[in-house]
Amino acid sequence: MEIKATVGDITKIKAGAIIVNFFEGMTHPDGDLATVDKALDGAISQLISQGEIKGKLSEITIVHSLGKFPAARVVIAGLGKPSELSRDKVRGVVAETCRLLRQKGIDSMATIAQGAGVAGISVEGAAQAVTEGALLGSYSFRKHMTKEAEYGEIKELTIVDADETKFPSLEQGCNRGRILAEATNLARDMANEPANYMTPGQMAETAKQLAENYGLELSVLESEQMQELGMEALLGVARGSLEPPKFITLNYKGSDSTEIDVALVGKGITFDSGGISIKPSEKMEEMKGDMAGGAAVMAAISAIAQLEPKINVIAIIPATENLPSGKALKPGDILTAMGGKTIEIISTDAEGRLILADALGYAKKLGTKHIVDVATLTGAMRVALGDIYSGAFGNNQELIDRVIAAGAEAGELIWQMPMHEEYKEQNKSDVADIKNVGGRYGGAITAAQFLAEFAGDTPWVHLDIAGTSLSEKERTYLVKGATGVPVRTLVNLVLSLAT
Ligand code: BES
Ligand code: MN
Ligand code: ZN
Repeated sequence: MEIKATVGDITKIKAGAIIVNFFEGMTHPDGDLATVDKALDGAISQLISQGEIKGKLSEITIVHSLGKFPAARVVIAGLGKPSELSRDKVRGVVAETCRLLRQKGIDSMATIAQGAGVAGISVEGAAQAVTEGALLGSYSFRKHMTKEAEYGEIKELTIVDADETKFPSLEQGCNRGRILAEATNLARDMANEPANYMTPGQMAETAKQLAENYGLELSVLESEQMQELGMEALLGVARGSLEPPKFITLNYKGSDSTEIDVALVGKGITFDSGGISIKPSEKMEEMKGDMAGGAAVMAAISAIAQLEPKINVIAIIPATENLPSGKALKPGDILTAMGGKTIEIISTDAEGRLILADALGYAKKLGTKHIVDVATLTGAMRVALGDIYSGAFGNNQELIDRVIAAGAEAGELIWQMPMHEEYKEQNKSDVADIKNVGGRYGGAITAAQFLAEFAGDTPWVHLDIAGTSLSEKERTYLVKGATGVPVRTLVNLVLSLAT
């Protein structure tokens, strides 16, 4: 879909449909809707007075223009009560409108910066939300389907405003929205890809393409180099698999300083069978998405490279499969992570924290000033918060607050989880420095406490996206499958940290 901003009168635009808004509680059309109503000889006023258009959130009414203006139809999209409007609601309504229109075979549409001037939403913010809603809501993963979709594709979306002084904001919002949504869709593509395609090697290949396209510096470490660096925890997980592991880094340099400001670390388990502590087969196919954290940090840094903030960022992705075999890691084994801490393996299915231990060790060695890791880490997180909120854990309240605020801006909900010291007790081992499972209770927290040991005193936040990385159904701008959470949060965070 191509999205562009333009100055003009929306009723003069030739498109399959023009989309305007109505709010709950209003009795007459105003603004652009009033212009459209006039052109339609009061048809919309009549629908409002007859109670057919109420303006409820996501209410969609289609009226044909019958030649009264160049666009074939006008779509009146309800945005709910003005005082309750948010950019996230705009994203959702636009997404739902796009899916409905594409079902009807409409391939071009025009709309306004929906919600601009309402509830503190700026023109730029509204244009960004419209763009994100359209691109995220129209996403589909059909790569491996040999039949064409039953619906068409919306090829063009124009965002219009009659006031030419608003054009720069409109264009900026469109541009940022497109970069963020395309990055999110890239992360979705990667996580939706089955494990026989998205191997660790393929993750490295994708990273290479991103490096070439966006001018990032790439490094891919092979097993021998991991060995030299002492990454025994990552190598331990990789041992059971025939696919060689890859330790991928992508570097973005936006400032003159030699220091790295932020490390974005993402779990890259391309398939999690559980290893010797094998998982039940029910829904095991979902574990192709156990690299969603890695995909998110790769996609985020590619968006960051396009937005060019003055800050240095590195994305770190330890990538491997977790499979059982005669060579596989066993419960009871003891591994030494990079940095020297020893880990007793209780379950080979608690593999995410093992590969992250080495990735955190690597970030520490680079001396990065902040670390944010993203991982589909625990089933316990999904049990605790479902698929609505991601959980945030950390050792620095200021950074946690920033991450949560960056998420709120993106409409990606994040809830802070407790990190009381007493949870550390559960990770104590009788034979090593720490064990990789702290028992069933508070499983998401003990996993975070495990990671905290490796983050040390560097300001660090851990996002557990086990619940939010996947959507079981179509919901506003999410479609069934990978969500691309928290790509937009990470980009917003880095922008907020840049000077
Ligand atoms: N990748 C899983 C966590 C997961 C579960 C993500 C469900 C998405 C949906 C992780 O590696 C795992 O297996 N965690 C175990 C940890 C346990 C053995 C301590 C879990 O949560 O059961
Ligand atoms: Mn696991
Ligand atoms: Zn896992």
